[in-house]
Amino acid sequence: MLHVNENYRKIQASYLFTEIAHRVASHQSANPAAKIIRLGIGDVTEPLAPAVVEAMHRAVDDEAGRANFHGYGPEQGYAFLREKVAEIDFRARGIDIAADEIFISDGAKCDCGNIQELFGDDVKIAVGDPVYPVYVDTNVMAGRTLASVDGRYPGLTYLECSAANGFVPTPEQAAGCDVVYLCYPNNPTGAVATKAQLQQWVDWANANKALILFDAAYEAFVRTPGIPRSIYECDGARTCAIEFRSYSKTAGFTGIRCGYTVVPKNLVAYAADGTAVELRPMWTRRQTTKFNGASYITQRGAEAIYSPEGQAQCRATIDFYLENGRLMKTALEARGYSVYGGGDSPYLWVDVKGDSWDFFDRLLKEANVVTTPGAGFGRAGEGYIRISSFNSRENVLEAIERLRKAL
Ligand code: MLT
Repeated sequence: MLHVNENYRKIQASYLFTEIAHRVASHQSANPAAKIIRLGIGDVTEPLAPAVVEAMHRAVDDEAGRANFHGYGPEQGYAFLREKVAEIDFRARGIDIAADEIFISDGAKCDCGNIQELFGDDVKIAVGDPVYPVYVDTNVMAGRTLASVDGRYPGLTYLECSAANGFVPTPEQAAGCDVVYLCYPNNPTGAVATKAQLQQWVDWANANKALILFDAAYEAFVRTPGIPRSIYECDGARTCAIEFRSYSKTAGFTGIRCGYTVVPKNLVAYAADGTAVELRPMWTRRQTTKFNGASYITQRGAEAIYSPEGQAQCRATIDFYLENGRLMKTALEARGYSVYGGGDSPYLWVDVKGDSWDFFDRLLKEANVVTTPGAGFGRAGEGYIRISSFNSRENVLEAIERLRKAL
């Protein structure tokens, strides 16, 4: 008899954003004329930077002739992109990361989800609460937890993040854990962590032979001087951290799919007999077995993000989204809501002082505006909704008008 992976029976029937999409589709089918504005899933709306488009067109031309045709590429990514990443994202900012520590992928979500394959079944995992669901669900699927009880999975350690701690947990909350997922600027709360706060985590991880999985998908939104954009800005992070980066929000690649993961040399985990085992060769082995690389055309597009024009164009688009966030934050605060995030992040985290799914449904029905209920990110997300700044200015201004009326 064919048996299923029982761990899949422990997780919620559908992924958060799939559940939201169902509710929105059902509202749309009941109200076909409604013009729905989507401020839910963090999906970009503005077109690719012209520098990226031109580079991708040139790459298509390469693929159109024998001379420059590319078939399978290196699973870790083309050297032309890995070298740009190491140079511009790290070395130009004084961070010691080499091209052969960069693994190009089809996005941070896959890497964040797949990385746990490198660790033993018995490792103790800590996640923030609220949290990006991928970190939790992939560990549930891998069998590291029991079935959920009251919205939490026994076997995981939840690090409560609230307005009281600025949505940044402290290492004491992760006592006894081997792996901690940190995401700053944070999804969903939009909070940022200071260098001193991240340094505490790095010191804790090094002292406890633990590992930080640092999701920096939103680093390009940081505008406040001194706020770290990489965990490797902290002393000692090379020996205790893996970092995930994404071009999705940085350069509008949600539909193109490209990102990368940094696994430093000499970063180790331990075999049962105590032998230190390097993680970088293990990740290489995993990727070469299960992944065939992001496409040549995609990687040429990603390379163009690092040109002077590409950098200026991408920054302008991010500034545009940040301004969307500022406009919405101001409007909601004027209505008396406490709003966190924005400023250094595309997400606003709004205290709705009530049930978050009810508030989500109310905004959908009364304003035709889609948000994300905080409860979908964990128990500590209850009482909040997340609003994404990714949309056109026209839609954002329209959404503000509708929210003013509905609230
Ligand atoms: C989000 O809205 O949280 C993200 O866009 C989802 C994702 O990146 O998978």
